[in-house]
Amino acid sequence: MSTPSVVALARKHRSLLKDFRNQEPSLVEYLRRFALRHAEKDLLSRTYLAIHEEGGVDRLAGYFSLSTVSVERTSVEELPTLWKLPRFPIPGVLLARLAVDARVQGQGLGRHLFEEALGLTLELATSGPVAFRLFVTDAINEDAVRFYERFGLCRLSDAFPARMVLDIKPLLGQIP
Ligand SMILES: CC(C)(COP(=O)(O)OP(=O)(O)OC[C@H]1O[C@@H](n2cnc3c(N)ncnc32)[C@H](O)[C@@H]1OP(=O)(O)O)[C@@H](O)C(=O)NCCC(=O)NCCS
Repeated sequence: MSTPSVVALARKHRSLLKDFRNQEPSLVEYLRRFALRHAEKDLLSRTYLAIHEEGGVDRLAGYFSLSTVSVERTSVEELPTLWKLPRFPIPGVLLARLAVDARVQGQGLGRHLFEEALGLTLELATSGPVAFRLFVTDAINEDAVRFYERFGLCRLSDAFPARMVLDIKPLLGQIP
């Protein structure tokens, strides 16, 4: 599969959403029922689609959703780069959802989407008008925890969904 383009979900994409398949029904349902509403009406999260073209037809290969979050200071006590911060909740961007269509998993798209989501976050942290320190997600199961650990996220909870965080400060100098 060639590298798909990643675009913000809009009304014109509605017909693409119906065909999306994933082993986690909640991630399919979110995309079909809530993602557009949350982006356009409720302003709760923004969703990005990976669309690839196959024989002249657009197909939805995966998606992620971004939102904001605040993480309790006590829950990051163990992380050496964060324990000196003041005892306030720590602001961050939440990777609220990430899923790849079951038919194209294992081909690098999950990594590509993760890197796009982190890239948008680092752009916002570098040149946006707000400051925040964490990139955060809630891993749905053990497989998802292992997936995110590959990218350096640290697990904060043994229960599921398992909150996982990445301190973005060391990454900010790497933006071109
Ligand atoms: C997790 C998910 C997004 C990965 O997508 P994918 O396209 O199959 O992943 P990739 O092919 O890009 O794999 C990226 C890396 O993660 C690894 N990886 C993929 N799935 C993994 C898993 N379940 N456990 C551990 N590692 C995993 C791959 O081996 C690869 O490593 P490499 O780059 O060193 O070779 C996809 O399996 C999915 O939609 N799962 C169900 C929903 C889910 O769990 N979402 C995330 C948490 S809410």
